[in-house]
Amino acid sequence: MLTIALPKGRIADETLAVFKSIYGADFAFENRKLILQTSGFRFLLVRSQDVPTYVIHGAADLGICGKDVLLEQGALVTELLDMRLGECEVVLGMRRGERLEATRSHIKVATKMVNITKQFFAAKAMAVEIVKLYGSIELAPLVGLADAIVDITETGATMRENGLEPVETILKTSARLFANRDSFIEHKAEIMQLREAIANSLPI
Ligand code: PRP
Repeated sequence: MLTIALPKGRIADETLAVFKSIYGADFAFENRKLILQTSGFRFLLVRSQDVPTYVIHGAADLGICGKDVLLEQGALVTELLDMRLGECEVVLGMRRGERLEATRSHIKVATKMVNITKQFFAAKAMAVEIVKLYGSIELAPLVGLADAIVDITETGATMRENGLEPVETILKTSARLFANRDSFIEHKAEIMQLREAIANSLPI
């Protein structure tokens, strides 16, 4: 039986709907339960950022989370499929009309995604101070905590309504199906069969 870690929220709901369309049965977590066992699968419901941890440690064979989470954590997993769910962008955002000045000696950037931010500015050979936050990133430039942010945007509404705008796209992301490396070797046929079934059932 394969164990699959899902990120709480819309991606878990949409993934379970895909399983329902493949196997016919109802795939739904009961009320507060974090484990769902049905039709030969075991699903775990976890925080998006924790999905790679469950997979890397082998507590789950497979996981689904955003490409940004995999990149941020440098997760050593076998990526299998772009689920084309949860499509969004990681952008550099600034107050409307402001732009990065490469010559400025000290730039502060607020973000949840410290490693992606470090890599982005290292590639520009710009030294920046990174301010790690856990949410409401858009607030930071409004109150002088940072000059810019690196954050996820989907509709762009949160940035817009807070007087910010995207200045540069850092990466496009979407949910990926991935496997623990050892599980993939051990259960290759079963995993590839599931991968095909999911790929064929995704909305076009
Ligand atoms: C993300 C992100 C923005 C918002 C952008 O937060 O940090 O705040 O969504 O979406 P929009 O472009 O459609 O307005 P999320 O909802 O993931 O919450 P979090 O801050 O708890 O991660």
